[in-house]
Amino acid sequence: MYSLNKSGQRVFALQIHKRYHYANGKFSTFNKPKPFESIPGLGALPLIGPLHHFLPIIGTIGPKTNMFDVLGILEGKFGPLVKVDGVFARGTMLFLFEPDHFEQVYRAEEANPLRPGFQVLDYYRTQLRKSRYGGLHGLINAQGPEWREFRTKVNPALLLPKLVKLYAPGIDEIAQDFVQRLSQITHDDAYIKDNFELELTKFSLEATALVALGSRLGCLKDSLDSDHPARRLMKSTRDIFELTYKLEIRPSPWRYIATPAYKMVIEAYDTQWEISMMYINHARKKLEQRGYDIPEEEKSVLEKLIAIDEKVAVMMASEMLLAGIDTVSFVTTSLLFNLAMNQKVQDKLREEIRTSESNYKRYFRACLKEALRLRHVVPANLRRTHRDHIVGGYYIPKGIDVIAPNEYLSRSEKFYPQPEEFIPERWLVEKSDPLYYGNAHPLVTLPFGFGVRSCIGRRIAELEIELLIKRLIEEFKVTWNGPPIKIVNKLTNTFVKPYNFTFTSVK
Ligand code: HEM
Repeated sequence: MYSLNKSGQRVFALQIHKRYHYANGKFSTFNKPKPFESIPGLGALPLIGPLHHFLPIIGTIGPKTNMFDVLGILEGKFGPLVKVDGVFARGTMLFLFEPDHFEQVYRAEEANPLRPGFQVLDYYRTQLRKSRYGGLHGLINAQGPEWREFRTKVNPALLLPKLVKLYAPGIDEIAQDFVQRLSQITHDDAYIKDNFELELTKFSLEATALVALGSRLGCLKDSLDSDHPARRLMKSTRDIFELTYKLEIRPSPWRYIATPAYKMVIEAYDTQWEISMMYINHARKKLEQRGYDIPEEEKSVLEKLIAIDEKVAVMMASEMLLAGIDTVSFVTTSLLFNLAMNQKVQDKLREEIRTSESNYKRYFRACLKEALRLRHVVPANLRRTHRDHIVGGYYIPKGIDVIAPNEYLSRSEKFYPQPEEFIPERWLVEKSDPLYYGNAHPLVTLPFGFGVRSCIGRRIAELEIELLIKRLIEEFKVTWNGPPIKIVNKLTNTFVKPYNFTFTSVK
């Protein structure tokens, strides 16, 4: 599928289109693509969708709870293209296990990248709480021209490379506060075992809020009661992801009956909005009271965007507090776990921190890429087709959810040698080394998504993780004592307790 052009760059050759003749919306009978319905996979039954395939003994797949195992079975049983029929409002899903195949679809969809949003959130914003949102969907759920207009307005405030310079001192201060807090609680093994993720989420909320709103929330204070607004915000975010999985990935009649999970998610959306608005309004008041202008580069995302479009500014700040908390804490935990399990890597990173800023940065980046390869927060990427495609000899119509199982592929021997091992060096070695990352297809590992619709918080997330890991590794030897960390795959990946970390001062 790939060939080299004169300057040695890889170019994608649409050989498929050479083989099939498609003109004026019709295929010629010569080499006609096979119909979409003939793609192998899992059919759906009324009400339960494809769930019967997961029943013991009679199910095609069997009772697997781990998404990773399910994907392995799907690929092994059906091959590189697997169709899973939907139920209720869930569209038909097409899993593509060949990177060339999903690259072909994703690139062709770049002009209008449709990623179906959360359906309950859509209903919540456009109908249930319509007057509050005034027709705005936000980035997570908007599609077509509305998404493009929103994204064009917010891209400069969130993605410019100089962001790193701008927010680094403030986030570093928060990282130091986190280290100080950890020093106070690190002797309490039982507390760390149960609450490490909670502590990290306080850090990610504090840091993301600083970038979004320009002010500190005070999450890293010694005691943060469960009814503190920051704690309630964290809980509502967690509940939203958890319940969205129940309502939108598993079959649910929420559109017809207000199920208990539906009622709970509405309550969580209300809480998330109420508390983020409380913080946003507080930040706006402080801006008004300041009474003078400051240089553009010193402004928070909220202040920058208010000058462009106030509604967009508020929505973006609220979505940052929704999408930027658990994601950052998950990746930081994952990297820390891998450093704890690979003491040589941890020692090398500490040594680089002490001796050379540029070597440290290079090595840190390799460690982060490797942790992200092994565990994606979002295990698969998704685009809904808005036009027809021909992929792998099959016709793919408009309106299909094309899924790239990136985390599964990233841990496959087909693409990376020793795929389950944490080897940051694979991102640093020369081309001649068999470990060289470039031997894998460039779209196998996509932890931040693809193209113009990829994660808008990427730079902020990477900065937060880098500054925290730097302070932690400088201060502590991190070890893990116990069985490997447990992961639950749902809408996003999450870790579950116990967190068997120990932190011993190295200063
Ligand atoms: C390491 C942490 C993070 C990871 C791994 C991550 C991953 C992702 C992924 C995979 C997507 C989907 C992209 C696609 O469809 O191509 C996404 C979208 C998004 N992320 Fe992140 N994210 C992280 C942190 C953040 C942070 C800190 C923020 C906010 C400051 C954020 C805000 C968003 C938003 C608003 C979208 C929707 C973008 C759009 O549709 O235009 N994320 N993220």
